[in-house]
Amino acid sequence: MIKFENIVKKYGDTTVIDHFNLEIQPGELVVFIGPSGCGKTTLLKMINRLIEPTSGKIYVKGKDITKEDPIQLRRNIGYVIQNVGLFPHMSIKENLEIIPKVKGEAPEAIEEKTVRLLKLVGLDPDEYMYRFPRELSGGQQQRVGVARAFSTDSDIILMDEPFSALDPITRNSLQEELFNMQQDLQKTIIFVTHDMDEAYKIADKICIINKGKIVQYDTPENLLKNPASEFVADFIGKKRVWNNPEVIKAEDIMIQNPVKVSPRRNVLQAIEIMAENKVDSLMVTNKEEELIGLITLKRIQLEDRNRSIEEIMERNVLTVAKNDSLVTVLEVMNRKKVGYMPVVDTSGKLAGLITRSSILAALSNQLIDMEVEF
Ligand SMILES: Nc1ncnc2c1ncn2[C@@H]1O[C@H](COP(=O)(O)OP(=O)(O)OP(=O)(O)O)[C@@H](O)[C@H]1O
Ligand SMILES: [Mg+2]
Repeated sequence: MIKFENIVKKYGDTTVIDHFNLEIQPGELVVFIGPSGCGKTTLLKMINRLIEPTSGKIYVKGKDITKEDPIQLRRNIGYVIQNVGLFPHMSIKENLEIIPKVKGEAPEAIEEKTVRLLKLVGLDPDEYMYRFPRELSGGQQQRVGVARAFSTDSDIILMDEPFSALDPITRNSLQEELFNMQQDLQKTIIFVTHDMDEAYKIADKICIINKGKIVQYDTPENLLKNPASEFVADFIGKKRVWNNPEVIKAEDIMIQNPVKVSPRRNVLQAIEIMAENKVDSLMVTNKEEELIGLITLKRIQLEDRNRSIEEIMERNVLTVAKNDSLVTVLEVMNRKKVGYMPVVDTSGKLAGLITRSSILAALSNQLIDMEVEF
């Protein structure tokens, strides 16, 4: 959808964007984040040609943007700038309708859209449509700014620190609003912020930038789990994984090769296998490696040694999926009062086993990695 290809921007001898390469897929919300002056605004402004690169190319929907008329290009890309940029002498309605009018959309359709967009950003159209920007609070103006970016009907929206001037509560509600709108409308959005918490709340992917270069481009989960460098770890905050247990997945805490047994074995053999492996339970899997049951030493000890595992195993085994979060796993284990939890992949194959001690081991590793102090 949007592709930066080897973009360099120099002012005199100073390189502010340094061989920047990035591809953004349709419908993704990508957050640009990095220290002040790292080049975020410059990158955004290059997409709608408010700034031209020194070298390199930008493609929007596969087309080299230098081949397009800049005015036309801008009309088709929503842009929210930090201080909103509403026209002060125009009503909210006029502010929202200016681009659709220029584009020649039908008047009734425009009016209908204005009402819909105001509702979408949580402003009552009857109350606010005919007001002027100065008659709105800062947060309400920001909402109009967001609505205006969507009024272009463009698939692409650029947002440069749109919520930075807001109080935490308004900011939170606008983040929610944006997230929900994005779920419904599936725009491609580049969102610039200084605030990592904001990035985590809204981003599909986060692009961490330093000195005009990408330091890491990844999903929020992967950034938390595998920061590519000290810079990233510092930037996202060392304690963050600990603060976000939902990013720790079942597969991160499971034992990879739990001891298995075939359903055709008998009780005697199963007890032998347990003793050999120093475990008190076994996963029963079929030829396809699918989990079909479970046996525990406590239960099978009382059984006739010749009975087959198939006859006596517990069949309704509770499982979790590989990408269920630690929060889910703990919740299920506590609710069902079980001490272990098999993990299966999407095709039902046994992937691993979570036990209380595997959870503790994984968490203490995390803590050592993160150098959390108590
Ligand atoms: N017209 C210009 N002439 C010279 N240098 C410029 C010009 N415009 C921007 N710069 C420099 O380019 C670098 C990147 O600026 P940019 O506005 O993209 O940063 P940013 O990441 O958006 O920062 P912030 O988070 O503070 O908004 C900065 O060091 C800035 O000083
Ligand atoms: Mg900026």
